[in-house]
Amino acid sequence: MTHDALENLSHEDRSFPPSAEFAAQANGTAELYAAAKADRLGFWAEQAEKFVSWDTPFTEVLDWSNPPFARWFGDGELNLAYNCVDRHVEAGYGDQVAIHWVGEPADDTRAITYADLQADVNRLANALTELGVGKGDVVAIYLPMIPEAVAAMLACARLGAPHSVVFGGFSAEALRSRIDDAQAKVVITADGGYRRGKPSALKPIVDEALELGAETIQSVIVVQRTGQDVGWVEGRDHWWHELVASQSPEHAYTPHNAEDTLFILYTSGTTGKPKGIKHTSGGYLTQAAYTFNNVFDIKPDTDVYWCTADVGWVTGHSYIVYGPLANRATQVMYEGTPDTPHKGRLWEIVQEYGVTILYTAPTLIRTMMKWGREIPAGYDLSSLRLLGSVGEPINPEAWMWYRKVIGGDRCPIVDTWWQTETGAIMISPLPGVTATKPGSAQVALPGIAVDVLDDQGVAVPDGHGGYLVLTEPWPAMLRSIWGDDQRFVDTYWARFPGQYFAGDGAKKDEDGDLWLLGRVDDVMNVSGHRISTTEVESALVSHEAVAEAAVVGAADEMTGQGIVAFVILRSHAAADPDIVTHLRNHVAKEIGPIAKPRQILVVAELPKTRSGKIMRRLLRDVAENREVGDVSTLADSSVMDFIKTGLSGGGE
Ligand code: PRX
Repeated sequence: MTHDALENLSHEDRSFPPSAEFAAQANGTAELYAAAKADRLGFWAEQAEKFVSWDTPFTEVLDWSNPPFARWFGDGELNLAYNCVDRHVEAGYGDQVAIHWVGEPADDTRAITYADLQADVNRLANALTELGVGKGDVVAIYLPMIPEAVAAMLACARLGAPHSVVFGGFSAEALRSRIDDAQAKVVITADGGYRRGKPSALKPIVDEALELGAETIQSVIVVQRTGQDVGWVEGRDHWWHELVASQSPEHAYTPHNAEDTLFILYTSGTTGKPKGIKHTSGGYLTQAAYTFNNVFDIKPDTDVYWCTADVGWVTGHSYIVYGPLANRATQVMYEGTPDTPHKGRLWEIVQEYGVTILYTAPTLIRTMMKWGREIPAGYDLSSLRLLGSVGEPINPEAWMWYRKVIGGDRCPIVDTWWQTETGAIMISPLPGVTATKPGSAQVALPGIAVDVLDDQGVAVPDGHGGYLVLTEPWPAMLRSIWGDDQRFVDTYWARFPGQYFAGDGAKKDEDGDLWLLGRVDDVMNVSGHRISTTEVESALVSHEAVAEAAVVGAADEMTGQGIVAFVILRSHAAADPDIVTHLRNHVAKEIGPIAKPRQILVVAELPKTRSGKIMRRLLRDVAENREVGDVSTLADSSVMDFIKTGLSGGGE
């Protein structure tokens, strides 16, 4: 296996147990492991009762009679908006701030209480009803990081209308394909949002998507955020402040079945077509709320929590919306980028709001390291008491920097491994229990079963690496790929029959602790965002200048992986001196700026096996400036020499 080299490299002796004070007050204790081990399903039933208010209690915990199609709490009924908002207001917490929203422009802030959020959700639920949205109708949400995004998701949940949030950085074509795949009826968007100090438009992208296709869309709701000019189609387009504001703030909810679809979220797989990951209600909320409570140790009366992810990704779904709100958390939500208007912006926000729990991504931590410790040193970060990391493996240096410079050497770090598909955290320390090692996500949470297998599907012993699998169904698991059950079965359950294959490599160290080693399939992880090599290749070959393209993820100090493309041009294009720029922009237009290749190398040939399969391993060697490995299976072994010698002129 390719992980052998890594197995020997990373040996970690440092260990950071929680302080006695932290352990004494922690929500999650060692008893959770014992309870889950003694009776796993009983344990989950207990969590479902503890964290969720049910309109109709469930009598069955798990139905696994038709694997891999699970039903959790299948005869229970609940409403997620009620669980995330109304019940807190009922309990007397209407005046508690749910969201301290911070816009990118200075002094552009809003404090939204649970009572405010309830009124916003209800008004939008009424407005959606007026537009003909009912249970089962899909609503696409294409918004910046503004509180309306949270209200929109909850209003859909209230109605039982699955939401499909599309990250605001995706292109018109990416939005169109997601709307078409889900047959969405309504899009909720904004005129624009603020990014890097200026308004960035969203509505024109929606208009373009609706011109390209997306014929199922009947209505567009537009939040006025930037005030920029927008095109308008009478009858189809509605301003939020006109349509929603005039609605009643009361809305009587209907309970939904635990297995009704809550949302679809598209993510990249190994083919060019994104997968609509389908999540349902009762099990999802149970695990999102349970993990939020125990991993982030939330104390709703005193903590101020902040997750820097965008609501367009699964982290925003589970750890900005459902997990925190079900736990009655007070949180910060920030619209903009970390360096606007200055590089201390995040720390300024931590200081101003007294943030106690911070959840962010390794790529951001590495960026902060590069900017220098003097920047955070200029702010008072003493309110912080717990730090989290997600999205990609965190290297030990970044982990130590995070602990020392941001956490003042006192805050436990929870490195949380999970995926869009898992719905909620699966592998993570419990901050009051685990003695953490820099760079290790440690062990599966109580109630979760994982293993590391070799090529033959046999569990590897401690000290070895292999493929990460989940060996038992879990409450927040994806239920299928939207409209494609067969792809669901083939993608996740066929490699190791009966077990869920996560697509990640992992190592068990001598103590049995887990170290994530990154993707083992054709999926790249760029700044914690999943992008498939095939998707970028398809975008490149859709340009008339490109005859063939191969894309690999190359190690990148800052972003984890960087996208490196090798392209063969059609003969007429070779003379264009700006071709690389054109191609990078073309990919941004097809998929979104996050998919822009870091480098595009124009080559005359690609390395292929005799059966015509591109040997990405060799291209990765080139992209990472390594000695090129074994070329004996190449159809034409001289190709690599050409590629290497051609490099000097082809890069950007
Ligand atoms: O490769 C793993 C990596 O991110 C992938 C999941 O990406 P996505 O579905 O976009 O969800 C990201 C946020 C949950 C995984 O297959 N990944 C996520 N968290 C970690 C990680 N790799 C290592 N350590 C983590 N903590």
